[in-house]
Amino acid sequence: MIDGKKTIYWHVDAAKPDPEIIRETGAIIRRGGLVAFPTETVYGLGASALDDGAVADIFRAKGRPQDNPLIVHLADLDRVWGLVVDVPPAALALMEKFWPGPLTVILKDGGVVAPRVRAGLDTVALRMPDHPVALALIRAAGVPVAAPSANLSGRPSPTTAEHVKADLDGRIDALLDGGPAGLGVESTVLDLSGGIPILLRPGGITPGQIKSVAGEIILDPSLESGGPVSGRPRSPGMKYRHYAPSAPLVLLEGSPAGMIKEIRLLIEEAVIRGDRVGVICREENAALYPGAVVVPAGMADNPAGVAAELYGALRRMDLLGVDLILAEGVEPLGMGLAVVNRLRRAAVKIVNIGAARE
Ligand code: TXA
Ligand code: MG
Repeated sequence: MIDGKKTIYWHVDAAKPDPEIIRETGAIIRRGGLVAFPTETVYGLGASALDDGAVADIFRAKGRPQDNPLIVHLADLDRVWGLVVDVPPAALALMEKFWPGPLTVILKDGGVVAPRVRAGLDTVALRMPDHPVALALIRAAGVPVAAPSANLSGRPSPTTAEHVKADLDGRIDALLDGGPAGLGVESTVLDLSGGIPILLRPGGITPGQIKSVAGEIILDPSLESGGPVSGRPRSPGMKYRHYAPSAPLVLLEGSPAGMIKEIRLLIEEAVIRGDRVGVICREENAALYPGAVVVPAGMADNPAGVAAELYGALRRMDLLGVDLILAEGVEPLGMGLAVVNRLRRAAVKIVNIGAARE
């Protein structure tokens, strides 16, 4: 039923979308259909969060594991109270400060959203995206909108409508093309269902920003290790290897000079093996890797620029058909924390240059 749909494409002005198109796509969501749309982070795949059948279609279209819950997108802060058991003061302060924006808050679920949205948890994730198209669509739908990133499960999140089309054409009802998403990595996910705020996924709102409003924050232990975690993670999405391109990705971390030297050695080894090797690096280093297919992503002094280009670079590597991807790491500061988190989870191997080379 999912495959073989005719996906309708609409181009919209990101700042001022055509009200007629928004009315029509809002109605598709209200009727139980699937609509992909731009947000300020990545493209989302939206369905009515009140319609369990529509939510089931999201999981089917993406091939998403059933135990990975979805974020519910709202256009008005007033809607929060109708969806949760209560709103702790710290949560309200954070929402007032950072909404609309790339912060998802996890609160105790009030039993209103469709069960599949929560994937069996007793909490619900809420976010208000900072994008005129997303906000207009949610308002037109008249319902809270459950929306994961609009990619096939396990693929890098889409930062352009072309990325969405490559993954989901024929599997969804409509796609609103509002140009490139801004930040390029998904929202910060913060668990506020207990006492102290727990960072589950780093994103556009940094730990420092959260601390300045909530007073405290702790990092989920899975963030320290970075790679796929075992046991029962607090955020089910974190146990899956994610954001993965087709070729294995090796992440290099350490001093810039050490990283560059090691990548050059690994290229030489790969070339001798006859492998086609790709390198994702900072723009200023692009000329340092002869013998490799180089895809630059941002400058070293601007982690936000790296974030904006990272997923596009991973998808580009797939199109280039490389056998191996070598990626330069970034400093885990500010937006760099989100970039490091995504790179680590895309990696099959992390090489720390601090360690001596055998
Ligand atoms: O920026 C974003 O957040 C994008 C745009 C489209 O809004 N959405 C997005 O959704 O990244 P998705 O489904 O790709 O990631 C949602 C993450 C997953 O890691 C999921 O496990 C976690 O949020 N999550 C959702 N509900 C949760 C809950 N109740 N408790 C813990 N984690 C939850
Ligand atoms: Mg996702």
